[in-house]
Parts: sequence; C-alpha cells; structure tokens
Amino acid sequence: MSALLGAAVLALAGPALAQLEGRGFPECHQGPLKNNTVCDTSADPLDRAIALIKTFTLEEKLNNTGSTSPGVPRLGLPAYTWWNEALHGVADSPGVNFSDVGDFSYATSFPEPIVMGAAFDDELIRAVATVVSTEARAFNNFDRAGLDFWTPNINPYKDPRWGRGLETPGEDPFHIASYVHNLIDGLQGGYDPKYKRVVATCKHFVGYDMESWNGNYRYQWDAQISSQDLVEYYMPPFQSCARDSNVGAFMCSYNAVNGRPTCADPYLLNDILREHWGWTEEQQWVTSDCDAVQNVFYPHKFTETREEAVAAALNAGTDIDCGTYYQHHLPAAYEQGLFNESTLDQALVRQYSSLVRLGYFDGMAVPYRNLTFSDVSTPHAQQLAHRAAAEGIVLLKNDGTLPLKIGSDMTIALVGDWANATTQMQGNYEGPAPYLHGPVYGANQTGATVLVANQPGGQGDPTTDNWRPIWEYAEQADVIVYAGGIDLTVAEEGMDRVSIDWTGAQLDVIGQLAMYGKPMFVMQMGDQVDNTPIIQNPNISALIWGGYPGQDGGLALFDIVTGKVAPAGRLPVTQYPAAYISQIPMTDMTLRPNATTGSPGRTYQWYTGEPVFEFGSGLHYTNFSISFANDLPHNHHSSSSCYNISDLTGDCNEQYKDRCAFATIPLDVHNTGAVTSDYVALGFLTGCHGPQPYPRKRLRAYKRLHGIAPGSTQTAAVNLTLGSLARVDDYGNTVLYPGDYALMIDTQPLAMMNFSLTGEAVTLDYWPQPPVKRVQENGYWVGGYGSTQEEGLLADGTVPGVM
Ligand SMILES: *[C@@H]1O[C@H](CO)[C@@H](O)[C@H](O)[C@H]1NC(C)=O
Ligand SMILES: *[C@@H]1O[C@H](CO)[C@@H](O)[C@H](O)[C@H]1NC(C)=O
Ligand SMILES: *[C@@H]1O[C@H](CO)[C@@H](O)[C@H](O)[C@H]1NC(C)=O
Ligand SMILES: *[C@@H]1O[C@H](CO)[C@@H](O)[C@H](O)[C@H]1NC(C)=O
Ligand SMILES: *[C@@H]1O[C@H](CO)[C@@H](O)[C@H](O)[C@H]1NC(C)=O
Ligand SMILES: *[C@@H]1O[C@H](CO)[C@@H](O)[C@H](O)[C@H]1NC(C)=O
Ligand SMILES: *[C@@H]1O[C@H](CO)[C@@H](O)[C@H](O)[C@H]1NC(C)=O
Ligand SMILES: *[C@@H]1O[C@H](CO)[C@@H](O)[C@H](O)[C@H]1NC(C)=O
Ligand SMILES: *[C@@H]1O[C@H](CO)[C@@H](O)[C@H](O)[C@H]1NC(C)=O
Ligand SMILES: *[C@@H]1O[C@H](CO)[C@@H](O)[C@H](O)[C@H]1NC(C)=O
Ligand SMILES: *[C@@H]1O[C@H](CO)[C@@H](O)[C@H](O)[C@H]1NC(C)=O
Ligand SMILES: *[C@@H]1O[C@H](CO)[C@@H](O)[C@H](O)[C@H]1NC(C)=O
Repeated sequence: MSALLGAAVLALAGPALAQLEGRGFPECHQGPLKNNTVCDTSADPLDRAIALIKTFTLEEKLNNTGSTSPGVPRLGLPAYTWWNEALHGVADSPGVNFSDVGDFSYATSFPEPIVMGAAFDDELIRAVATVVSTEARAFNNFDRAGLDFWTPNINPYKDPRWGRGLETPGEDPFHIASYVHNLIDGLQGGYDPKYKRVVATCKHFVGYDMESWNGNYRYQWDAQISSQDLVEYYMPPFQSCARDSNVGAFMCSYNAVNGRPTCADPYLLNDILREHWGWTEEQQWVTSDCDAVQNVFYPHKFTETREEAVAAALNAGTDIDCGTYYQHHLPAAYEQGLFNESTLDQALVRQYSSLVRLGYFDGMAVPYRNLTFSDVSTPHAQQLAHRAAAEGIVLLKNDGTLPLKIGSDMTIALVGDWANATTQMQGNYEGPAPYLHGPVYGANQTGATVLVANQPGGQGDPTTDNWRPIWEYAEQADVIVYAGGIDLTVAEEGMDRVSIDWTGAQLDVIGQLAMYGKPMFVMQMGDQVDNTPIIQNPNISALIWGGYPGQDGGLALFDIVTGKVAPAGRLPVTQYPAAYISQIPMTDMTLRPNATTGSPGRTYQWYTGEPVFEFGSGLHYTNFSISFANDLPHNHHSSSSCYNISDLTGDCNEQYKDRCAFATIPLDVHNTGAVTSDYVALGFLTGCHGPQPYPRKRLRAYKRLHGIAPGSTQTAAVNLTLGSLARVDDYGNTVLYPGDYALMIDTQPLAMMNFSLTGEAVTLDYWPQPPVKRVQENGYWVGGYGSTQEEGLLADGTVPGVM
C-alpha cells in the first residue's frame, strides 16, 4: 500500500496508531496471514518464520532477497527496506524518511563514534544507544524507518589515512569490543529480550579499512592477513558482537581476505562467525555491503559467471544482498542448480525470524509501539548529546591558561573554517539535527563579544587577500580561538587521506595569530593531524581535539574552555608524525614492525617511532594519584603474586575459557588538585610473556569515574580475565603463557603491579584453521603500488585458482 496514502490517513486520524496496521506492518488481523502461524504471538519465533516462508512461491522467495524487499502483496506482507542507518543517531538512508518540516523532521545527532570512543565511558554508550533505538522505534511507528539498522562500524582504525576512521571508536580492539558490547545492549535492549528494540548490524566483516589508496580500491582489494593478526587485531570487535553480545546481524565487506571476497567466504561466514562463535540462532542474518555481491563477480572476478557469484555468496551464508544482484541473478543460478532451495529458505527464515523478534507481526502487543515524535529529541536526549561531546573532547596542551573565565567585557576572535561549523560537526552517516550549536554559538554563550572570521576557508585557502578580517579581529580580541583541522572534504567514505598534516595555509595563519601574544587556543577538529608545530609554539596556550562533536559540539567545546566542564577524554587513536604515511603502505595489513619492509609498526601496541600524542593521551584541570586498594588476591593459587596456570585454567568452567576471571583489582583514584573532574582509568598490560616480539603494552581494562571532587577518592575495579592475559600464537590460537606481567594504570603510569604466571602454556581457544592461503589472481585487476595483490602474484609461485 502506498506510504503516501497511509501518511495522509494518519494526519487526519491523529495519533491513532492502529491505523498503521496493514501499511507499514503485516496484515495479521485479516486476509491470508490471519490464520498463519506467523501471526500467532504465542508460537515459537522459528516456527512462525518457517510458516510464513512456506506460503511463498519460489518467485516470491527469489524476490525477497535484496535490501529492498517487495514483500508478498497477495499475503498482506508489506514491502520492507533493510537498509537503515543510525551511526550516531537515526540517519538519512534508503529506509529512513525524514519529513521536510514538523514531526519527524529531525533526530538527535550525537557525536561521531570517534568522539564517543574518546569518552571511554561504556555506560554513556549504552545510554546513547538506548536513545537512538527509542527514536528509531518512534520513526518506525510512523513508517519513517525500518527496525534494523546497519550500525556499528567497528573495523579497528589502524591507519590514520582511512576515510572512515571517524565512524569507529578508535584503534584498540579491546576498547572497541567493550564499546560495541554496550552499544548493542542499548540498541537491541539487552542480550535476549522478548522484543528487540532494534536489530544492530556489526560491519564490515572483516579486514576492511581502506577506501582508495594508490590505485587500490575497496571493491577489489585482497587483504592478506595472518591468522595471528586476524585474531589479535581485526576480529575481537566482531567476536564481541557475535559471541558475547548476541547481535542480530552482520555485514560482510567489499574486500577479499586471503584470496576470497568476504561475502563469498564460508570460512569467515560459517566456520568462524556461525560455528566458532556460536552465532546460530534462526534470527541472525548476514547482509552484504552494498553491491558487494556484484563485486564478487567484478572487480574481484572471483567467479566465471554472475550466477556463480550470487550462488557463492548465498551458499557461503550471505542472507541479504544489499542491492539487486540476488534478485536479478539468483533465478538463473537456481535453474543451473548452483544452490538448493533449502539454502534460500534458510536465508529468508533468518530475515523474517528477525522481524518476528522485533514484533513486526505483533501489533500493539509490542511495548515500543506507543512511542511517538514526542519521544524524539527529548530534554534527556539533548542533554546526553551535550554530555557525549563534552566527555569525548580531549585536552592535549595547556600552559595553565585554561580554564579561562570569559566575561561580557571580553572579545573573542574566532577564526578558521570550523569557526561557524554546523553540519561539519555531524561528520557522515548523519540525519537532520534539531539544532546545530557550533563554536560561534558556544563562544556567544560565554557572554563575550564574538568576532568570526571563517578564513582560511576549506582545507586552508591560501589566498592571503581573503585573510584580512582575521588580523582585524585578532587585533581587537582579548582571546584568540582558531577552530580548524580537517573535515569530510578530505576524509570520507570512498576517500582516504593523502596527508595527515595541517594544511600549509592553516599553519601559517595559526603561527601569525600566535604572535599577537594574547591567550590563544587551537581547536583541532575532525580526525588527527600532526600537531607538532602547535605543541612547539610557546605562544599557543592550549590545544583541544574536538573531532566531530555532533549537535551541541560548539557549546561543549566552550564549556571545556571556561571550565564549566572539566576535560577528561582520551585520544582513542595514535597521533602520528606527518611522515608516517610514507613509511607504510595502507595495504600493509601487518601490525608488527618489520625490518624487511621498513614498517615502523601500527597502533600504540607496535609503533616504534615517537608519536606526536600517544593513544590514551588527555590532560585534566587537576591531578590524580592512584593506588591499588589491595594486593592481588593471595589464595591457594598464588604466593607472592605468582600464579600456577594449570590451577587458573583448572578452576575455569566457562564454555569460553577466555571469559574466566583472573582477578578484580580495586583501584583508588584520588583527586589531588583543586577542580572536580572525571577520570578515565586505563589499565595496560605489559611484560615478557608469549610469542616475541612483545607489544609495548595492551589496553585490557578501562573505567570512567565521574565527578571526583578535590581531595576525594573514588574506586574503580579493574577486571582481568584469563583472556585479557592471553596472547595469540602464529595459528591464531589464544594461549595463556607463563612469564612476567605488569599492570600499568594510565599512559605515564600512575601505578603499577607486577605478577607472574608459571607452568605450562594452556590454549584457551583453538582457532579454526583457514583453507590453504591464497591470493586473488584474476588477471582483471593489477593493484597499484603497495598492493600485496601484485606482490603476491610475483612472490607466490602456486596457482591460487578461482575456488
Ligand atoms: C481462519 O480460520 C478460521 C477457523 O479455522 C476460518 O473460519 C477462517 O475462514 C480462516 N480465515 C482465513 C482468512 O483463512
Ligand atoms: C517480483 O518483483 C518484481 C519487481 O519488483 C515484480 O514485478 C514481480 O511481480 C514480483 N513477483 C512476485 C511473484 O512477487
Ligand atoms: C517520505 O515521507 C513523505 C511525507 O513526509 C512521503 O510523501 C514520501 O512518500 C515518503 N517517502 C517514502 C520513500 O516513503
Ligand atoms: C543440494 O543439496 C544436496 C543434498 O543435501 C547436496 O548434495 C548438494 O550438494 C546441494 N547442492 C548445492 C549446490 O549446494
Ligand atoms: C507504552 O507502553 C508501555 C508498555 O506497553 C508502557 O509501559 C508505557 O507506559 C507506555 N507509554 C505511554 C507513553 O503510553
Ligand atoms: C554562521 O552560519 C550561519 C548559517 O550557516 C549563518 O546564518 C551565519 O550568518 C553565520 N555566522 C557568522 C558569524 O558567520
Ligand atoms: C549571541 O547571544 C545574543 C544574546 O544572548 C543574541 O542576541 C545573539 O543573536 C547571539 N549571536 C549569535 C551569533 O548567536
Ligand atoms: C610569541 O609572541 C611574541 C610577542 O608576544 C613574539 O615576539 C614571538 O615571536 C612569538 N613567538 C612565536 C614562536 O610565535
Ligand atoms: C617481514 O616482512 C617480510 C616481507 O613481507 C616477511 O616475509 C617477513 O615474514 C616479515 N617478518 C616478520 C617478522 O613478520
Ligand atoms: C599537577 O601537578 C604538577 C606537578 O606537581 C603541577 O606542576 C601541575 O600544576 C598540576 N596540575 C594541575 C592542573 O593541578
Ligand atoms: C568488574 O567485576 C565486578 C565483579 O564481578 C563487577 O561488579 C563489575 O561490574 C566489573 N566491572 C567492569 C568494569 O566490568
Ligand atoms: C601447578 O599446579 C599443578 C597442579 O595443581 C602442579 O602439578 C604443578 O607442579 C604446579 N606447577 C608449578 C610450576 O607450580
């Protein structure tokens, strides 16, 4: 039925939600579905989905395999759009329909995940995700969104050039795994609720973190990844989704891994995702990234025919094709006997079981069905968007000028391309926001006179003639604020960065502004750039990283400046020197430094150079001291902090041994300064244990404490599991090794505790071994410089072949 007609009826009928029956929702109260088990709310969800699919003809089945499902009109099963986005708030996408004005014309627009990651606050993430799923449900009730959302993006952000790094919580796999567990909990409404709030989709599985670099494109890229790197770095966020968070959906990626496009790889989609991680509920489905099934044919050229491509994806376990390739080519593939109807049925049962679990067939019995636009952008949601920005903003330099009292007697010169930012603050995958409070708004709230010069424009317009207002305002000002950096014009989906430095024009202007000898702050917006010149310039009082801070970002920034909020965010990525990008190709998927290739290593765990700011950096307006509340527990397992591995593992009764507790270590955090402040306790493990080389350190626990008053103490519990002590061997097995361990709190350790494990190493998780390692050899594509595809072809004498 026409959505337009439905909307008109609604407008006339007011809030009578029952009007929605039969339009956005299946006709369970009349027609052929009425007596079908799918509409029996007391039946088993799997039986309900099976009963529905039994009534489909083959053609109807084949028709409902794409991201836009026509449904089955003769049954009263409406069309459904699977492709909905909600990265940091309900967002524009094929399934989401914002109205032009009035109700449903906006949704809360939180900061990009890179900023929310910097908050290191799992409870905040859960609260944000709960708001997002609440607003999504309100949209769905009025036929303005679906019930599943293709979020989160959790590929670890290992290369600063990646155009989609802003969509992720950062570079550390443990951090992302913890973040995403809480996010999914908030989006779906718990581990196994009767009715899911929405279905979340963990993407992009797996090894996807390059858009376009030196002639390499995400659509054809064959990432060569060792089992060790895969398990240690690329997989933990996805394991958290599938095994530990019961996420409803996964998305396979554009790239290939070790010779096979991920959407056509039964090793990844079946052996790892479904079997090894136990992600086998009937309601759990995999969608392809958009047109990734087409990409299996070209440019991967993984199969000889289009029919083989769609069959390879379906048989591997890709249940939904984002696009139309399944709908167009599965019919001929079926004729050719390339897949069984039972496989198609399984894909459809997964899709519709998921909708059953969302209450799609259950009408007003679903508790979320009474949500309306009055549940969108509530005062709570607005306050949370501000809090998320304020918690994520990171103070990187401060000569003591901040916090600064700014009164109505003062004049602020606000300079730079981000000075009057609006939609810039939202980054990508955004929807219309209720308001966009940029730096101008934030500065104005201080009561000061604000002079705004939006130069140099863009990424640093070098037309010096346009810079004249800057000097005029700087002359008049008491305080100078430069707000710039990068934005989506240089780093976006489809576009990786070609520089990680500030642009020349911006650095020139910043340098000249510093010479006025006035209090001057730099607000570094967007992703990381090399801040060396700003650190080194003694005339620049402070540097604040604001990222993409969302609808209230400008206010949050100035609340930090004035001290209304004390900064406590931490960089969730390494800030590298600008030259880093000439030391390692984007296509090098290894993490460890390598003398042969010249790689200096990736991420804080392995990078051998001197970072500009290391992962976890972030200053405060106060100081903290830390002490361990007790020694490690001494019991029959331990004497003088020495633990016997066979005793530790012998006591472990969990199905997944990495989950067994090692110790909960209480940590006293004492505020020794004069300002009330949050504090993020970061717990890193280091030491000589497991395979060499050893990482510099690994984040294994974190906790944000709130509002620690001067002179007072709060306690954080650092929970270590056997998994958090373990390391990964060459085969991808997770192993608990004997050796020396040290737990360090914070980046410049404020406290440290040593212990050791003795006895024989014990494997906690045996990794399913991959089929023989392959490289993609298709003769169609020759990757550019740095492409291991090209190197693979030259180096590997074996014939990888097509299958
Ligand atoms: C549903 O079942 C009832 C009782 O078995 C029957 O009277 C009715 O006609 C059926 N309705 C439909 C739409 O098949
Ligand atoms: C399949 O989809 C096509 C295009 O949407 C439509 O024309 C056709 O009627 C559908 N067939 C069935 C059986 O639903
Ligand atoms: C989106 O909503 C508008 C009403 O605001 C309606 O006219 C339009 O048909 C809808 N579009 C879709 C694709 O549902
Ligand atoms: C179809 O199912 C049969 C019986 O289980 C099996 O032998 C055959 O390999 C399957 N065909 C395909 C293409 O999967
Ligand atoms: C919506 O429904 C739920 C459960 O059915 C109920 O707890 C809640 O009070 C209702 N809210 C409103 C605004 O009616
Ligand atoms: C800021 O931008 C808004 C709209 O984007 C515009 O209306 C306003 O004049 C700008 N303010 C300044 C001070 O440039
Ligand atoms: C600044 O605030 C004043 C008073 O609060 C208001 O009149 C003015 O429009 C604001 N200016 C901007 C650029 O927001
Ligand atoms: C710092 O400011 C003073 C003037 O206050 C100026 O003489 C000096 O050159 C500046 N230094 C830098 C590095 O900009
Ligand atoms: C370093 O890189 C070379 C070339 O890719 C590779 O053969 C070698 O195994 C790597 N060394 C280590 C220690 O990973
Ligand atoms: C923190 O302590 C250091 C060294 O004792 C001191 O120099 C600094 O001023 C303190 N910072 C704050 C914000 O209190
Ligand atoms: C740590 O473990 C304790 C006890 O099991 C639990 O109450 C607490 O929530 C855990 N903390 C974190 C941050 O996981
Ligand atoms: C560890 O404990 C086991 C049995 O509990 C014992 O056999 C073994 O000798 C112990 N190993 C060490 C190194 O203490």
